[in-house]
Amino acid sequence: MSYVSAAGQVERGPHSVGNATEERPRKRAKTDDGPSAFEKPPDWMKNFYKRYQKFNKYALEAKLDLVECDSKSSSFSRHLVKACEGQIPEELKKLKQTFSEFLGWCTDCGDVDWKKCEHPEWATPPVYLIHDMPGLSIYPNLLPQNVQIALLDRLLHRDLSNPEHQTNVHTHYEVPYPPPAPGTNGPGSFFDASAKDLVYKPKQSHAAINTERLLDKKLRWITLGGQYDWTAKEYPAGPPPPFPNDIKTLLEKIFPMKAEAAIVNFYSPGETLSMHRDVSEECAQPLVSVSLGCEAVFVCGRGAEDATASETRISPIKLRSGDALLMSGESRYAWHGVPKVLPETCPEWLQDWPAVGKNEERFAAYKGWMKRKRVNLNVRQMFADE
Ligand code: OGA
Ligand code: MN
Repeated sequence: MSYVSAAGQVERGPHSVGNATEERPRKRAKTDDGPSAFEKPPDWMKNFYKRYQKFNKYALEAKLDLVECDSKSSSFSRHLVKACEGQIPEELKKLKQTFSEFLGWCTDCGDVDWKKCEHPEWATPPVYLIHDMPGLSIYPNLLPQNVQIALLDRLLHRDLSNPEHQTNVHTHYEVPYPPPAPGTNGPGSFFDASAKDLVYKPKQSHAAINTERLLDKKLRWITLGGQYDWTAKEYPAGPPPPFPNDIKTLLEKIFPMKAEAAIVNFYSPGETLSMHRDVSEECAQPLVSVSLGCEAVFVCGRGAEDATASETRISPIKLRSGDALLMSGESRYAWHGVPKVLPETCPEWLQDWPAVGKNEERFAAYKGWMKRKRVNLNVRQMFADE
């Protein structure tokens, strides 16, 4: 095992007060000794974030401290990035089977055409660790193309159509649901033509919106499993809706955690997620984050108010479609945010989603929706293991 790039100092910002945009209410105060959700990130961190918010993709190319891992790279940036060779978790060796099951393919009957996966590194998907951020693992290009497409299909055609899953839109609008998909008794998709004329009536003094506006602009998050209550600032007591079983199985076969609650975030280029810590879960089990669509810069920092303190570190990391992050150990409660979603970076094979493959005609009206989106599936374990 060796470090694959030279050591270097990370950038630190000046000390003026940040003004990052807040897209969604954040978390409850902990009653125990854990970190408080009401604490603010140190100013130097907010400033680092703000600087990345202003970069365009050309400026980013010149940023030597940006951590860019891909499944073939051997050098990255000024950060110490350690390939986790020889330590590849056992779970990663069974990916082929895990993905087959997720796709509903039969692994025994010999009809699986693996060429379709176009995954560059089937046998040993790489995992990288950043020296400055203990516990943070990067899995570049972990999900093959067909798994990324199937994941989007299930999140947006199935899970968004389940009224038990709250969205940010439910706070302000009465949300009508699409009729069953033609020829099925399953729920229809908001992307179906039959959902086109649904009207979302405002609860307060907003104007009503239609489905196109819902999908293109208004939808910022969906919660799966444990439905975090942003007003009471906690997960409600009582059983949550079941976490979508196929996604739960996929994640739990790859990562050392239980998928119990998730936030699915939607970003258009220009939209951000300000620096925060995810401290509302009752345990510090690892958190998994999967990126789909446009590329983003993810910033993760730790350390004190004083930027010169020796333990102070911050890492900007480029996240691409199919990448996964595992935040465990010290990094689980690290400050983090998304200052930048890069326009024109959605992989070509994904740009036409949802009008791809067998859905080309059914969702023709939304062809190209994904070209302007980044979707992040952010999954947590709520309770400690028994
Ligand atoms: C979150 C989060 C990061 C991302 O949802 O809490 O940190 O990459 N998301 O979108
Ligand atoms: Mn987070």
